[in-house]
Amino acid sequence: FKQKTAYEISACLVGSEMCIRDRYNPCLMKWTKDSWKNFEAKQMPAYADQGNLDSVIEELSSMPPLIFAGETRSLKSQIYQVQKGESFYLQGGDCAESFQELNPNTIRDNFKLLLQMSVVLTFATNKPVVKLGRMGGQFAKPRSSDFEEKNGQKLPSYRGDIINSFEFNESSREPDPKRMIRAYNHSASTLNLLRAFAQGGFASLTQLNKWNLDFADNFDTTKKFKELSEKIAESIKFMNACGVNEKNTRELRETDFYTSHEALLLPYEQAFTRIDSTTGEWYNVNSHFLWVGDRTRDPNGAHIHYLSGIKNPLGLKVGPSTTIDDLKKNIEILNPENEGGRLTLIVRMGADKINSKYPDLLKEINKLGLNLTWICDPMHGNTSTSKSGYKTRATENIFKEIQSFFEIHKSEGSVAGGVHLELTGLDVTECVGGPDDIKDENLGDRYHTFCDPRLNVNQSLELSFLLADLLSNGEMN
Ligand code: PEP
Ligand code: CO
Repeated sequence: FKQKTAYEISACLVGSEMCIRDRYNPCLMKWTKDSWKNFEAKQMPAYADQGNLDSVIEELSSMPPLIFAGETRSLKSQIYQVQKGESFYLQGGDCAESFQELNPNTIRDNFKLLLQMSVVLTFATNKPVVKLGRMGGQFAKPRSSDFEEKNGQKLPSYRGDIINSFEFNESSREPDPKRMIRAYNHSASTLNLLRAFAQGGFASLTQLNKWNLDFADNFDTTKKFKELSEKIAESIKFMNACGVNEKNTRELRETDFYTSHEALLLPYEQAFTRIDSTTGEWYNVNSHFLWVGDRTRDPNGAHIHYLSGIKNPLGLKVGPSTTIDDLKKNIEILNPENEGGRLTLIVRMGADKINSKYPDLLKEINKLGLNLTWICDPMHGNTSTSKSGYKTRATENIFKEIQSFFEIHKSEGSVAGGVHLELTGLDVTECVGGPDDIKDENLGDRYHTFCDPRLNVNQSLELSFLLADLLSNGEMN
């Protein structure tokens, strides 16, 4: 009796062809919300006391869900529209949310910025924009090293506020399971406010002029946005005259906004894995959309296994080290029924690698003719260290990678669905370049990120105008 590999077991658990053929070696293990424990889980913190961890997971397991399964089904069908080229996909927010930065203004400003960007994109493409925030749960971070060394002291790396604390001392860096309860409470209050913004009138297209971020008043991008707002206001007046207005048309009055985060800290995700009473299927009810990171996407690993059993729409990062074979395996495990909108491939090659690494991969996978949505993350392959020692990204490289991504898709006759960005509505100086021409020596001015450098408001708006041009073949200028 041959021992199954983890990949074969995962294939079995999702009932794939490969397992059905393998009838002499029946699957002995069913997927459950904690069956990920039978696989290697990378990037997991070492909690000192198992008892404390278990009691936190038990407490979280009885907490109310943050989202409803039905909402994730709507999102899935919207992502399917993206795959068909009928909508544009915009996902963005902090690299890592922090407990400290959580306040109503930050949430409002990130939300405003994403709304502004989606208006620019809708105007350019005449397509709706599917909006996902890296918000309301983006607290856990994978790290390239388990330890950080400073002045001869070696401590565990900071892994996001849901796990430990940023300060460099022994007690701060000790993973504390109770932080998961704080993360849940923060996510709940973030989501509560986002729902109010999205549905309570703030997101109404008639409020467009109120989405401007005050401190950004003097910049060209903001002026450009104001001009666009005026054109939209004119169109709305015309629609009103024809009888289409806020009162009778939901689309003018409110918007759909979804949350997403990296499914990294599996005990936490497990606590929010529940059966949906209307379908009897398993869903993660903490976030609408979950993705697996570039460091945890091993087809034999615990993260892929966990995600295979839930029905939410999923993302899979595709980096320069992704092999065609592993990608095929992950696609089979994560989307065995070839469902539209289920799987979004988030490509993050880097501006210098995308042209050599991506076309072959895309060609090979396209040959399978499967339902997949491709989007570009131009952030994570373009991180460098500035002379002054800050982790930064050049907007120039970010734009370049996006441009290459769209060109490659065009030449392959395949739909480029949208973008996945790290950005903030705060006026930070973390990425170099952009309308205010941030240079290496300016990075220290307002460098607030706890993890990766984010685009600020002007850089984000500039990027949305650039995208708009790419999508409308230069008609925006
Ligand atoms: C991230 O999205 O913050 C991240 C860590 O990305 P990746 O897994 O692609 O490196
Ligand atoms: Co990041």
